[in-house]
Amino acid sequence: MNDEGFSRIGMSAANFKSAMHNVEFEGDEVVTIQTGESLLEASLRAGIQHLHVCGGKGKCSTCRVLILEGHSNLSAPNNKEKQLNKKLSFLPDIRLACQTTVQVGTVKLKRIIRDDSDIGYYVGKDAVQTPQQIGEELEMVLLFFDIRNFTTFSEAHFPFDVIHVIRKLFSVFQTILESHGGKIIELMGDGFYAVFQCESDIHAAVRDAVQAGLSILEKLNSLNESYFKPHFMHIIQAGIGVHVGKVISGEIELNSISHRFVMGSPVNIASRLQNATKELNNSFIISSEVHNHLPASMQSNRSAFVNLKGVNGDVRVFLMGTPYNP
Ligand code: FES
Repeated sequence: MNDEGFSRIGMSAANFKSAMHNVEFEGDEVVTIQTGESLLEASLRAGIQHLHVCGGKGKCSTCRVLILEGHSNLSAPNNKEKQLNKKLSFLPDIRLACQTTVQVGTVKLKRIIRDDSDIGYYVGKDAVQTPQQIGEELEMVLLFFDIRNFTTFSEAHFPFDVIHVIRKLFSVFQTILESHGGKIIELMGDGFYAVFQCESDIHAAVRDAVQAGLSILEKLNSLNESYFKPHFMHIIQAGIGVHVGKVISGEIELNSISHRFVMGSPVNIASRLQNATKELNNSFIISSEVHNHLPASMQSNRSAFVNLKGVNGDVRVFLMGTPYNP
């Protein structure tokens, strides 16, 4: 036995004292386990290729096991397990292996997620295991941008004209975002979302994101006057929503090209803030969390309450843009 199997959950062989219980991993093998040791630690120590995408932190569900015998010999679900059960409505005999220990006697269980195609990526011998590739929790500022009523414009113009307009806008906006430390993660038809990573200073990242949003709207105004109005007889309006929070960021390789992904509830909230621009008749909406991190010189004295899907009750948001219909 070596320390290789413990690397992702921060264990070393020296941590273990004598084994006291037996756990039968159905379809794998019988493993000895020390009181207080998690099921995941024991299975990895025995060389079982047990999926554990978040590294045993109780922040995914990939290590889950189905308890076949000996339910009462296990530790009670801790808060992390209770939260997961609530979110995913798991039955009581499904447990997170990284959060569950054996208190007495023997236990029989079965790993649930055990598709061979997962193994090479996460836990195999040549596993790709950098945090960026597997996914890591990071604090980020999320900016969602969307063009208002673009269907009307696209239906009235040639497809090549429409593509030209989108290309022109997004390349200009990308330059603005990058000059403020932002990066577009995904294009979504007539919109996109970008992230600003909080390296060490969350205030700076928030300020950069809000400043980028303001600069994008300012640039859009000038392009409307100098380009879209004279050449396309159209004024383009847009909505921007910004929120900050902890997300999971990582990479997915498709067709040998690495794509970055950013996921988590702050992403959904930023998207819904952008959606709320229409309801609140204002082109730029930021969450209270974002507003709290702004310097006084950038704060707004215009706020409103709005109901965001997935968030209980109305939340206070701040209006940073201009009305669509003054
Ligand atoms: S490894 Fe992620 S919850 Fe157990």
